[in-house]
Amino acid sequence: MGVDESTRWVGSMPEVYERCLVPAVFRPFARELASRATGDRVLEIAAGTGVVTAELLAALPSVDLTATDLNPAMVELGASRVPGASWQAADAAELPFADASFDLVVCGFGVMFLPDRPAAYAEIARVLARSGCFLFTTWDTLSTHGFADALARALGQVFPGDVPAFLTAVPHGYTDPERITADLRAGGFGGVDIDTVTLSGRAEEPAQIAVGFGTGSPLRAELARRGDLDDVVARVAAAMTADLGDGPVTASMTAHVVEAARRR
Ligand SMILES: C[S@@+](CC[C@H](N)C(=O)[O-])C[C@H]1O[C@@H](n2cnc3c(N)ncnc32)[C@H](O)[C@@H]1O
Repeated sequence: MGVDESTRWVGSMPEVYERCLVPAVFRPFARELASRATGDRVLEIAAGTGVVTAELLAALPSVDLTATDLNPAMVELGASRVPGASWQAADAAELPFADASFDLVVCGFGVMFLPDRPAAYAEIARVLARSGCFLFTTWDTLSTHGFADALARALGQVFPGDVPAFLTAVPHGYTDPERITADLRAGGFGGVDIDTVTLSGRAEEPAQIAVGFGTGSPLRAELARRGDLDDVVARVAAAMTADLGDGPVTASMTAHVVEAARRR
Protein backbone atom coordinates (compact mmCIF):
# COMPACT_ATOMS: atom_id res chain seq x y z
CA MET A 1 0.00 0.00 0.00
CA GLY A 2 1.19 3.54 -0.74
CA VAL A 3 2.27 6.09 1.86
CA ASP A 4 -0.86 8.22 1.33
CA GLU A 5 -3.20 5.28 1.66
CA SER A 6 -1.46 3.98 4.78
CA THR A 7 -1.72 7.33 6.59
CA ARG A 8 -5.20 8.52 5.62
CA TRP A 9 -8.09 8.76 8.07
CA VAL A 10 -11.13 10.31 6.32
CA GLY A 11 -14.94 10.29 6.59
CA SER A 12 -16.20 8.01 9.37
CA MET A 13 -12.75 6.51 10.10
CA PRO A 14 -11.91 8.75 13.10
CA GLU A 15 -15.28 8.03 14.74
CA VAL A 16 -14.86 4.25 14.30
CA TYR A 17 -11.24 4.47 15.51
CA GLU A 18 -12.38 6.31 18.63
CA ARG A 19 -15.34 3.99 19.36
CA CYS A 20 -13.75 0.60 18.61
CA LEU A 21 -9.97 0.88 18.88
CA VAL A 22 -9.24 3.56 21.47
CA PRO A 23 -10.88 1.81 24.46
CA ALA A 24 -9.50 -1.64 23.65
CA VAL A 25 -6.06 -0.90 22.24
CA PHE A 26 -4.85 2.68 22.65
CA ARG A 27 -6.10 4.00 26.02
CA PRO A 28 -3.95 1.73 28.24
CA PHE A 29 -0.78 2.98 26.54
CA ALA A 30 -2.02 6.60 26.46
CA ARG A 31 -2.14 6.49 30.27
CA GLU A 32 1.31 4.91 30.42
CA LEU A 33 2.75 7.59 28.13
CA ALA A 34 1.14 10.48 30.02
CA SER A 35 2.38 9.13 33.36
CA ARG A 36 5.96 9.71 32.09
CA ALA A 37 5.38 13.23 30.72
CA THR A 38 6.88 16.36 32.27
CA GLY A 39 7.17 19.94 30.99
CA ASP A 40 5.24 23.19 30.66
CA ARG A 41 5.13 23.56 26.87
CA VAL A 42 4.17 20.25 25.29
CA LEU A 43 3.56 19.37 21.64
CA GLU A 44 1.68 16.22 20.70
CA ILE A 45 2.08 14.88 17.17
CA ALA A 46 -0.13 12.26 15.45
CA ALA A 47 -2.65 12.95 18.22
CA GLY A 48 -5.55 11.21 16.44
CA THR A 49 -8.82 11.52 18.35
CA GLY A 50 -7.07 12.80 21.48
CA VAL A 51 -6.74 9.83 23.81
CA VAL A 52 -3.16 10.75 24.77
CA THR A 53 -4.13 14.44 24.75
CA ALA A 54 -6.79 13.88 27.42
CA GLU A 55 -4.41 11.83 29.55
CA LEU A 56 -1.71 14.52 29.27
CA LEU A 57 -4.13 17.21 30.44
CA ALA A 58 -5.13 15.01 33.39
CA ALA A 59 -1.50 14.27 34.31
CA LEU A 60 -0.21 17.85 33.84
CA PRO A 61 -3.11 20.16 34.75
CA SER A 62 -1.23 23.43 34.08
CA VAL A 63 0.40 22.32 30.82
CA ASP A 64 0.29 24.46 27.66
CA LEU A 65 -0.59 21.65 25.22
CA THR A 66 -0.63 21.85 21.43
CA ALA A 67 -2.12 18.77 19.72
CA THR A 68 -1.52 18.10 16.02
CA ASP A 69 -2.30 15.43 13.46
CA LEU A 70 -1.79 15.02 9.71
CA ASN A 71 -5.46 14.30 9.00
CA PRO A 72 -7.94 17.19 9.36
CA ALA A 73 -10.76 14.70 10.13
CA MET A 74 -8.79 13.48 13.17
CA VAL A 75 -8.10 17.06 14.29
CA GLU A 76 -11.80 17.93 14.02
CA LEU A 77 -12.89 15.00 16.20
CA GLY A 78 -9.97 15.40 18.61
CA ALA A 79 -10.66 19.11 19.10
CA SER A 80 -14.32 18.43 19.85
CA ARG A 81 -13.47 15.68 22.35
CA VAL A 82 -10.50 17.35 24.08
CA PRO A 83 -10.96 21.14 23.86
CA GLY A 84 -8.37 21.82 26.60
CA ALA A 85 -5.54 21.56 24.04
CA SER A 86 -4.88 23.87 21.07
CA TRP A 87 -5.45 21.73 17.98
CA GLN A 88 -4.15 22.16 14.45
CA ALA A 89 -3.44 19.99 11.43
CA ALA A 90 0.29 19.39 10.92
CA ASP A 91 2.58 16.84 9.32
CA ALA A 92 5.05 15.63 11.95
CA ALA A 93 7.76 15.88 9.30
CA GLU A 94 7.07 19.58 8.67
CA LEU A 95 6.08 21.21 11.93
CA PRO A 96 4.70 24.79 11.75
CA PHE A 97 6.47 25.89 14.95
CA ALA A 98 9.55 27.97 15.75
CA ASP A 99 12.83 26.39 16.84
CA ALA A 100 13.05 25.40 20.52
CA SER A 101 9.36 26.12 21.27
CA PHE A 102 8.59 23.01 23.38
CA ASP A 103 9.97 21.19 26.44
CA LEU A 104 8.47 17.88 25.37
CA VAL A 105 7.11 16.30 22.19
CA VAL A 106 4.78 13.32 22.74
CA CYS A 107 3.52 10.79 20.19
CA GLY A 108 1.33 7.74 20.79
CA PHE A 109 1.75 5.11 18.05
CA GLY A 110 2.41 7.61 15.26
CA VAL A 111 6.10 7.27 14.33
CA MET A 112 5.54 4.07 12.34
CA PHE A 113 3.46 6.11 9.87
CA LEU A 114 6.34 8.50 9.08
CA PRO A 115 8.01 7.64 5.76
CA ASP A 116 11.43 9.17 6.60
CA ARG A 117 11.90 8.83 10.36
CA PRO A 118 15.42 10.29 10.74
CA ALA A 119 14.24 13.41 8.87
CA ALA A 120 11.06 13.64 10.97
CA TYR A 121 13.09 13.14 14.17
CA ALA A 122 15.37 16.01 13.10
CA GLU A 123 12.28 18.18 12.67
CA ILE A 124 11.05 17.17 16.14
CA ALA A 125 14.49 17.94 17.62
CA ARG A 126 14.37 21.37 15.95
CA VAL A 127 11.19 22.41 17.83
CA LEU A 128 12.52 21.09 21.17
CA ALA A 129 14.32 23.30 23.68
CA ARG A 130 17.93 22.34 24.46
CA SER A 131 16.99 20.18 27.42
CA GLY A 132 13.87 18.88 25.68
CA CYS A 133 12.70 15.29 25.26
CA PHE A 134 10.78 13.23 22.72
CA LEU A 135 8.51 10.63 24.37
CA PHE A 136 6.67 8.08 22.19
CA THR A 137 5.30 4.57 21.83
CA THR A 138 5.73 2.08 19.01
CA TRP A 139 4.33 -1.46 18.95
CA ASP A 140 6.55 -4.50 19.37
CA THR A 141 6.18 -7.40 16.90
CA LEU A 142 2.75 -8.60 15.78
CA SER A 143 2.99 -11.83 17.82
CA THR A 144 3.24 -9.78 21.06
CA HIS A 145 -0.14 -8.09 20.45
CA GLY A 146 -3.04 -10.42 21.21
CA PHE A 147 -5.65 -8.44 19.25
CA ALA A 148 -3.55 -7.66 16.17
CA ASP A 149 -2.25 -11.22 16.04
CA ALA A 150 -5.80 -12.65 16.19
CA LEU A 151 -6.85 -10.22 13.47
CA ALA A 152 -3.88 -11.32 11.32
CA ARG A 153 -4.89 -14.97 11.75
CA ALA A 154 -8.45 -14.11 10.67
CA LEU A 155 -7.16 -12.17 7.64
CA GLY A 156 -5.02 -15.19 6.71
CA GLN A 157 -8.10 -17.43 6.80
CA VAL A 158 -10.31 -15.08 4.81
CA PHE A 159 -7.64 -14.16 2.22
CA PRO A 160 -5.22 -17.12 2.03
CA GLY A 161 -2.29 -16.18 -0.18
CA ASP A 162 -3.39 -12.53 -0.37
CA VAL A 163 -3.10 -11.28 3.21
CA PRO A 164 -3.33 -7.47 3.53
CA ALA A 165 0.08 -5.95 4.33
CA PHE A 166 -0.96 -3.11 6.65
CA LEU A 167 -0.55 -4.74 10.09
CA THR A 168 2.96 -6.07 9.53
CA ALA A 169 4.13 -3.21 7.31
CA VAL A 170 2.94 -0.25 9.39
CA PRO A 171 1.77 -0.66 13.05
CA HIS A 172 4.08 -3.62 13.61
CA GLY A 173 6.74 -2.61 11.09
CA TYR A 174 8.96 -0.51 13.38
CA THR A 175 9.79 -2.79 16.28
CA ASP A 176 13.58 -3.11 16.48
CA PRO A 177 15.10 -1.12 19.39
CA GLU A 178 18.47 -0.88 17.59
CA ARG A 179 16.87 0.63 14.51
CA ILE A 180 14.78 3.03 16.61
CA THR A 181 17.92 4.15 18.47
CA ALA A 182 19.92 4.59 15.24
CA ASP A 183 17.12 6.64 13.64
CA LEU A 184 16.88 8.88 16.73
CA ARG A 185 20.65 9.42 16.78
CA ALA A 186 20.58 10.27 13.06
CA GLY A 187 17.82 12.79 13.81
CA GLY A 188 19.79 14.63 16.51
CA PHE A 189 18.89 12.82 19.72
CA GLY A 190 21.51 11.70 22.26
CA GLY A 191 20.41 9.60 25.23
CA VAL A 192 17.77 7.05 24.21
CA ASP A 193 15.93 4.95 26.77
CA ILE A 194 13.61 2.17 25.56
CA ASP A 195 11.30 0.47 28.03
CA THR A 196 9.34 -2.50 26.67
CA VAL A 197 5.95 -2.61 28.39
CA THR A 198 3.13 -5.15 28.28
CA LEU A 199 -0.41 -4.03 29.15
CA SER A 200 -3.81 -5.62 28.90
CA GLY A 201 -6.62 -4.51 26.58
CA ARG A 202 -10.28 -5.45 26.66
CA ALA A 203 -12.88 -5.50 23.88
CA GLU A 204 -16.61 -6.14 24.25
CA GLU A 205 -16.36 -8.80 21.52
CA PRO A 206 -13.89 -9.83 18.79
CA ALA A 207 -16.01 -8.01 16.15
CA GLN A 208 -15.08 -4.69 17.83
CA ILE A 209 -11.46 -5.27 16.78
CA ALA A 210 -12.38 -6.46 13.27
CA VAL A 211 -14.67 -3.45 12.68
CA GLY A 212 -12.20 -1.05 14.32
CA PHE A 213 -9.20 -2.02 12.19
CA GLY A 214 -11.28 -2.97 9.14
CA THR A 215 -13.15 0.34 8.84
CA GLY A 216 -11.40 2.72 11.28
CA SER A 217 -7.76 2.29 10.19
CA PRO A 218 -5.90 2.34 6.85
CA LEU A 219 -6.46 -1.45 6.63
CA ARG A 220 -9.86 -0.36 5.32
CA ALA A 221 -8.45 0.54 1.89
CA GLU A 222 -6.87 -2.90 1.48
CA LEU A 223 -10.09 -4.68 2.49
CA ALA A 224 -12.22 -2.53 0.19
CA ARG A 225 -10.11 -3.74 -2.74
CA ARG A 226 -10.95 -7.34 -1.86
CA GLY A 227 -14.76 -7.06 -2.09
CA ASP A 228 -17.74 -5.27 -0.57
CA LEU A 229 -16.32 -3.72 2.63
CA ASP A 230 -19.24 -4.65 4.93
CA ASP A 231 -19.18 -8.21 3.67
CA VAL A 232 -15.41 -8.55 4.00
CA VAL A 233 -15.38 -7.11 7.53
CA ALA A 234 -18.23 -9.44 8.54
CA ARG A 235 -16.20 -12.44 7.31
CA VAL A 236 -13.12 -11.28 9.23
CA ALA A 237 -15.23 -10.68 12.36
CA ALA A 238 -16.75 -14.17 12.05
CA ALA A 239 -13.29 -15.73 11.77
CA MET A 240 -12.11 -13.82 14.86
CA THR A 241 -15.21 -14.88 16.79
CA ALA A 242 -14.65 -18.52 15.85
CA ASP A 243 -11.07 -18.17 17.12
CA LEU A 244 -11.64 -16.16 20.33
CA GLY A 245 -15.26 -16.88 21.21
CA ASP A 246 -18.33 -14.68 21.45
CA GLY A 247 -18.34 -12.01 24.16
CA PRO A 248 -15.73 -9.94 25.99
CA VAL A 249 -12.08 -10.67 25.18
CA THR A 250 -8.85 -9.53 26.78
CA ALA A 251 -5.41 -9.50 25.19
CA SER A 252 -1.90 -8.65 26.27
CA MET A 253 -0.20 -6.04 24.11
CA THR A 254 3.50 -5.12 24.12
CA ALA A 255 4.96 -1.79 23.04
CA HIS A 256 8.23 0.11 23.34
CA VAL A 257 7.99 3.31 25.36
CA VAL A 258 10.84 5.48 24.11
CA GLU A 259 12.36 8.57 25.75
CA ALA A 260 14.99 10.44 23.76
CA ALA A 261 16.85 13.55 24.90
CA ARG A 262 17.73 16.23 22.34
CA ARG A 263 21.44 16.33 21.73
CA ARG A 264 22.78 19.65 23.10
C1 LIG B 1 -2.63 4.84 15.31
S1 LIG B 1 -3.10 6.51 15.23
C2 LIG B 1 -2.59 7.10 16.82
C3 LIG B 1 -3.45 8.21 17.31
C4 LIG B 1 -3.29 8.59 18.78
N1 LIG B 1 -1.97 9.10 19.06
C5 LIG B 1 -3.63 7.43 19.69
O1 LIG B 1 -2.78 7.03 20.50
O2 LIG B 1 -4.77 6.93 19.59
C6 LIG B 1 -1.89 7.19 14.15
C7 LIG B 1 -2.11 8.65 13.85
O3 LIG B 1 -0.99 9.13 13.09
C8 LIG B 1 -1.46 10.15 12.25
N2 LIG B 1 -0.43 10.40 11.24
C9 LIG B 1 -0.06 9.60 10.22
N3 LIG B 1 0.95 10.17 9.53
C10 LIG B 1 1.23 11.35 10.14
C11 LIG B 1 2.16 12.40 9.88
N4 LIG B 1 3.02 12.35 8.85
N5 LIG B 1 2.16 13.48 10.69
C12 LIG B 1 1.29 13.57 11.73
N6 LIG B 1 0.38 12.60 12.01
C13 LIG B 1 0.34 11.50 11.22
C14 LIG B 1 -2.78 9.61 11.74
O4 LIG B 1 -3.61 10.61 11.21
C15 LIG B 1 -3.35 8.99 13.01
O5 LIG B 1 -4.15 9.89 13.71
